[in-house]
Amino acid sequence: MQTSSCSWLNQKQAEQIANDFGTPTYVYSEKKIRENAAACLAFPNAYGLTVRYAMKANPNSSILLLLQKLGIYFDASSAWEVRRAIHIGIEPTRISLSTQELPKDFASLVEQGVEINCCSLDQLERYAKAFPGSEVGIRLNPGKGSGLNNRLSTGGLAASFGIWHEFIPQINEIAQASRCKIVRIHTHVGTGGDPDVWFQTATESLKSLDAFPHVHTVDLGGGFKIARMPHEKQSDLQVVGSAVKKAIEAVQARTGRKLHLEIEPGNFIAANLGGILSEIQDETSTGKDGYSFLKLDTGMTEILRPSLYGAQHSFRVFQKILSEETASYAIVGHCCESGDVLTVANGDSETLAPRELPVCTIGDLIMIEDAGAYCAAMPAKNYNSFPEASEVMVLENGEIREVRKRQTLDQVIQNETPIKW
Ligand SMILES: Cc1ncc(COP(=O)(O)O)c(C=O)c1O
Repeated sequence: MQTSSCSWLNQKQAEQIANDFGTPTYVYSEKKIRENAAACLAFPNAYGLTVRYAMKANPNSSILLLLQKLGIYFDASSAWEVRRAIHIGIEPTRISLSTQELPKDFASLVEQGVEINCCSLDQLERYAKAFPGSEVGIRLNPGKGSGLNNRLSTGGLAASFGIWHEFIPQINEIAQASRCKIVRIHTHVGTGGDPDVWFQTATESLKSLDAFPHVHTVDLGGGFKIARMPHEKQSDLQVVGSAVKKAIEAVQARTGRKLHLEIEPGNFIAANLGGILSEIQDETSTGKDGYSFLKLDTGMTEILRPSLYGAQHSFRVFQKILSEETASYAIVGHCCESGDVLTVANGDSETLAPRELPVCTIGDLIMIEDAGAYCAAMPAKNYNSFPEASEVMVLENGEIREVRKRQTLDQVIQNETPIKW
């Protein structure tokens, strides 16, 4: 049996949310956002810190605007994220863009104050051509990655993110030819990996500093681990941060450079701020040698992580009829897709891994926990024509506010332009 990370939500509130907004609904906690932001802002640092929330984790405007108010900056992964953030009221100067696809109109974003980390030699050439003589950042692939599996690692030979560390001479050639100064080095080596591996690989980028005399800022990306399951080891930001601080102080002692530090937590801010409230809408079994299945009214349309990564989440049942008994359940989603399984083996989406839970009945509510990051932001949207779920926030004063409405069927098909046969 597991302890609940969504213990801030009581049964009465869960029932009220299901009643007022329906299921499935993403449920977030204002209190958690504030706590997580404070923990990140307390990241130890030697010569200054900027915390950038990786908005890809959850771009809901109520979350972004609260984070901005709390002093958080933003990491965007596409120009669309940048435009979205600016559109809802995020200051352009608070946004940094590190993207696989630099848009044709990137210069207009820079002119508004957005910072760009060039993630390929071609991006750097384009930037240098548009802004000769300027200061610019680069994203490096330091040669190693960190993540639960290859799908969550963004460094090393198999990763296309950033400029390969052996191409530093080419970076400097491009910069010199256009009188640009490389002032920021960015790495992000992956997500959900072991905190010790994160530290070793992330700080590799500090070794490249000698080749870049103008660098004043190092951005070590995100990747701080949230433990979603009891066996997982969560990053302790004070421990990791102290080690990073020492590494930065060592650079100062060796070179005299006082580096400003940036971090880009996505999971660490958003993962445990909420979950998906759903209803058990059916059950079935494959006999005594098989499994007891619970079928939820959610699935890959709200949470793709189990099928995509073999990611594991905890479940909290709100029983209608209280019972102390437990049973082993395989939990599946509502899509007509054999891969829509929510209880998978760690890092292995092919293998069913049933969970011991309180005995459930059809109609019980069930919360998929720690689903604040990379869930609402990354669904198999509208598959089987299920509408996008609603999102609500439990405010510190106890009020429950809808922060995104459930899609209507009209909205699901609104951009189709039917041929009138
Ligand atoms: C460039 C960059 N920074 C930060 C993050 C956030 O990572 P995490 O959610 O593991 O903290 C990501 C996610 O992949 C990313 O691509």
